[in-house]
Amino acid sequence: MTPQLLAGKRGVIFGALDEQSIAWSIAEVCAAMGAKFTLTNAPVALRFGQLNTLAERLGATIIPADATSIGDMEKLFQQSEEILGGKIDFVLHAIGMSLNVRKKNEYTNLNHDWMLKTFDISAVSFHKMCQVLYKGDHMAEWGSILGLTYIAAQRTFPDYSEMAESKALLESFARSFGYHFAEKNKVRVNTISQSPTMTTAGQGVKGFDKFFGYADTMSPLGNAPALDCANYCATLFSDLTRYVTMQNLFHDGGFSSMGMNPKLIQE
Ligand SMILES: NC(=O)c1ccc[n+]([C@@H]2O[C@H](COP(=O)([O-])OP(=O)(O)OC[C@H]3O[C@@H](n4cnc5c(N)ncnc54)[C@H](O)[C@@H]3O)[C@@H](O)[C@H]2O)c1
Repeated sequence: MTPQLLAGKRGVIFGALDEQSIAWSIAEVCAAMGAKFTLTNAPVALRFGQLNTLAERLGATIIPADATSIGDMEKLFQQSEEILGGKIDFVLHAIGMSLNVRKKNEYTNLNHDWMLKTFDISAVSFHKMCQVLYKGDHMAEWGSILGLTYIAAQRTFPDYSEMAESKALLESFARSFGYHFAEKNKVRVNTISQSPTMTTAGQGVKGFDKFFGYADTMSPLGNAPALDCANYCATLFSDLTRYVTMQNLFHDGGFSSMGMNPKLIQE
């Protein structure tokens, strides 16, 4: 029997596109642990993704929202409170997109208009989301807000390109808003830095398959799967982690603490 760590909790989950999405696993785990939540994604993603299947299975309402639009997010959180019957206990931001990465532009030859769009979708959206939640007083006391990030925020992974700067910005927004939300009503704000994971966003990065294998060998526990990331997120949404805030938490099988793994030299 799955522990009912999230019984009675109300949430909003961004970013489930298809079965491979990390947010998809997170939604399944949160439902199994007793949470009620709304699901959201960009209107365009709802047309080609499979979110309906998940929503039907879990009995969750879908509310379309472009995370770069303050107006969309105001409606999203107002409607979520109405549907769920009270203030929100947890929010997952699992959003990332880079046109320069998609078009395989080299880091030394990026389109800067696209770069700004990347920052807006992948990082500024986190600030916008927090600001809408803060100003609208949507979060319950001791609530939890989480963003998903990647270690390229701290170290150079050349093919991750401008997503590295997006993640650095995202992590910084989480730290800064963590202060303001703690002061307001004890809400915590954290980011989880996840292993490479086979998803639509992940596989958009050049050479991802080879890199996935490299990270898997480098990490003493191997790459952390999406389902385990979901279990970790659930602990952070639960009351067991009430004093964890303003942190970037590595969920990566030990990758971030390794300098060299002899297995890589032997291969
Ligand atoms: N896959 C990996 O290797 C990996 C590793 C570490 C962190 N992450 C992060 O995990 C998060 C989820 O990504 P994923 O790997 O599950 O891939 P994914 O492609 O399944 O999810 C990305 C989501 O972002 C959504 N999105 C894009 N633009 C949006 C907008 N304007 N408004 C609202 N939503 C929008 C997409 O529709 C999609 O659902 C991202 O932040 C990603 O950077 C992924």
